Formats: sequence, structure tokens, C-alpha cells
Amino acid sequence: MVNKVSDSILRYIKRFIRFAQRFVQDPRLASDDLAKYLFLKLPGSLQLRLRTLFRPGVQSQTGIPSSPSSKPQDLVADITSQFCVPETFVRRYREQGHGPIDWSSSNWKEFFEHLPPLQKITVPYAMSTVIRGRTMLSLLESQAHLRKKNRYLDVGTGYGGFLRAAKEAGFKEVMGIELQQDLVDLASANVYGLPGAQVLKEDFLTGDFSGIQGFDLITCNDVIEHVDDPRLAIRKMCGLMNEGGCISFEVPNKDAIEFVRADGHFLIFGITQLPKDQAAEYYAAYTGAQQSVYFFEMGEMYELDWYFKELRENGVSAFVADTHSIGAIEDVPNLMKDLRQVYKEWQAETKPKLDVALAQRITSSVDTYIQDLERDFSNLTDHPSKIRFKNKYLRAFWTIIATRD
Ligand SMILES: C[S@@+](CC[C@H](N)C(=O)[O-])C[C@H]1O[C@@H](n2cnc3c(N)ncnc32)[C@H](O)[C@@H]1O
Repeated sequence: MVNKVSDSILRYIKRFIRFAQRFVQDPRLASDDLAKYLFLKLPGSLQLRLRTLFRPGVQSQTGIPSSPSSKPQDLVADITSQFCVPETFVRRYREQGHGPIDWSSSNWKEFFEHLPPLQKITVPYAMSTVIRGRTMLSLLESQAHLRKKNRYLDVGTGYGGFLRAAKEAGFKEVMGIELQQDLVDLASANVYGLPGAQVLKEDFLTGDFSGIQGFDLITCNDVIEHVDDPRLAIRKMCGLMNEGGCISFEVPNKDAIEFVRADGHFLIFGITQLPKDQAAEYYAAYTGAQQSVYFFEMGEMYELDWYFKELRENGVSAFVADTHSIGAIEDVPNLMKDLRQVYKEWQAETKPKLDVALAQRITSSVDTYIQDLERDFSNLTDHPSKIRFKNKYLRAFWTIIATRD
């Protein structure tokens, strides 16, 4: 135990020295490195969303201009126009603080360049809330799932942009449910003045919504993998959905090859293949942190069929939309090769430092995963088997769309 703690302290000291050396040589490059490091510490769902947002060529699709607008004089007005969020939202965000941010720039580009590394990630995530909502709604619209646009519910609404996007898309009444007060305030600022929009401060799991009228659309984006009881969350969402309505939620896929290689939340090899209590044990041994941190951050990770079964038991049918692909079937041999290489390195470097029983459990889970992957890859005979394979191994996240007809 003492050895593990001192190993971990040593790792942090080495990392700090490396950063300091880089900073002396080239402060800008070093800040970029730190930004990358912090980026990788973010939840996987957040990472992927940010990557999508800032990948060249995707920005115009999502509504974020790839080049700065023509020298605007006012930062808030520039953010407002580039991200399609109201000024009240940006001002409330500024008032709330959100870390050491210099708001004196006159435009987004300059402002963004001067943000500290962590805020380079969190500020665009917050500001892109409406654009991400629009993307989700246009996906649902393109698949003809928005049959009625009377009532919309966003569970774990965060910044509330999905609510604003739903109003733009023609929904009459929109409601966000959010656990944290500062986010409730931001979401309220986002929909301020929009008729039929409201944000409730509630824990979706414990709140009583039995007296509330049903919804034509319910979304739950980047939320379900963190709640303590996803089964209950699904049951409650299904109970709140109208006939002919639709639920859409996004969840990270524990069997995506890239997440077995390094999970999206903590970048630890193989951790997604363990049940939650063992994952917490591995997390604590690997990072030197308390198991309780893992329990606080993460819920249990389930297979796609688990979600389908839960949804079916609640009277709805579901499918996975074609989003978040990490590669084509032709890429699998290379992805497998890379995974085996990382496994080999893990066996040489990390495994010897772990408790023998824990190491054995990880090894056996990963061995089973690799055997299944190889078997499934060699059994790709027809279209349905390819679709199943792609959903199981080649999507970082599932956009699960559920409907009741
Ligand atoms: C990663 S954020 C995603 C926010 C938003 N859905 C988005 O995509 O921008 C997860 C949000 O879910 C909220 N949340 C988590 N558990 C919740 C619960 N039981 N009830 C209500 N909100 C919850 C958190 O407070 C947080 O705002």
C-alpha cells in the first residue's frame, strides 16, 4: 500500500518536473500539453463531444463557424452570435465564475486563446449547449421520430441548450430537470423569456413526477452512466413518454475497442470489463485515489442488450443510431493488433504492481473480451452480424432511440 502511494506521488512529481522543463523551454507548447492532459481526464462522453465539435469540417455542420467572425467589439455579443446562446446565459456564466477566466477580450477567438487549459475545454462545452441540442434534434427529425412537438423533457439538462433548441424546433412546452443549482440557474438563463419553458431543480431518481403530463420527446444526454440507478431512470423516463413519443439517450460503450484499451473516464486499460466494485478497486490501486471517488463518478456499465431489455420491459422498442463510429470493420485487424500490444505492455508494467487476485480478475476479463472479439470477427457472415459487431465493438457511444407505437 505504502509502495503504491509513493509510486503515485513519484509519478506526479515526475509529471510536474516534465511540465516545468517544457514550460521553461516553450510556455505555449507546455500549456497545450497540459490542456491535452486535462482533456484526457474529462469524462469520455465529454471528450468525444468536444472532439466532434472542433474537428475541422464538422463545425459548419454544427453551427460553430470555423473562422472568427469579422472583428466584433463585444465579447458577449460575439459568443452570443457564434454559439447561438442568449446574452443572459453568457452573462450568468460570467457571473458564476467557472475558474480564472479573463473576460476582457473583445471577441471569442482572442478570449478562447487566453483561456486556462481546463477552461479551454469546459467553456466551449457549456457555450455549445444549444448547438449540441440542435444536432440531436436534427438527428431525430431526420429519422422521423419527432411526430408531435407538444411537450419535451430533458433529464440532466445541464446548461439547458437542448431546451432552447427544442423551442426553436417548434416544441410548445419544454422542461429541464437538473440536480445542481448553479446549472439550474444557467439553464433558466438560457430559456429566459421563452414561453412554455421551465427548469426544475430535482433529482430525477427521487423526484415525484407522477402528477406531470406526458412528453412527446425525452432526452438524457451524457447522464445515465453517472446515475446510481439507471434501471429506475429508464423506468421513470418510459413512464413519462406519450404514445407515439420518443426517448433518446447517449451512453458510453464499455466494449468499444478504444475504451478497453483505455477507458474514456480515467484512461485505464481493461477497467470497463470489470463490474463496478472491482473497477473501483482497480481504479484505487492504479491511481492511489479512494474507491469512493470512483463510486461517486461512475455508475455500472452495461451492454447494449441490457438497455434494450430494460426498455422492452417498459413497453418500448429501441435501436442504435449511426453515430460515434470509431472505425470500419476493415480497421478491426489493426485495432486488435494495437489492443494486444497495449495488453502486452500492461502485463509487463502494470500487472506486477497490482494485487495478485485483482490482476488475475483483470487478465481473465480481458482474455474473455479478446476471445469474444476474435470469435465475433471471424463470424461476420451477413449484414445483421456486421451491424451487431459494429454496435458492440466499433461505437464509442450509443445514441439509443426508443419509441412506443
Ligand atoms: C455531463 S452533464 C450533461 C449535461 C447536458 N445533458 C448536456 O449534454 O450538456 C450531466 C448532467 O446530469 C445532471 N444529473 C446527474 N444526475 C442527475 C439526476 N439524478 N437528476 C438530475 N440531474 C442529474 C448533472 O448535474 C449534470 O448537469
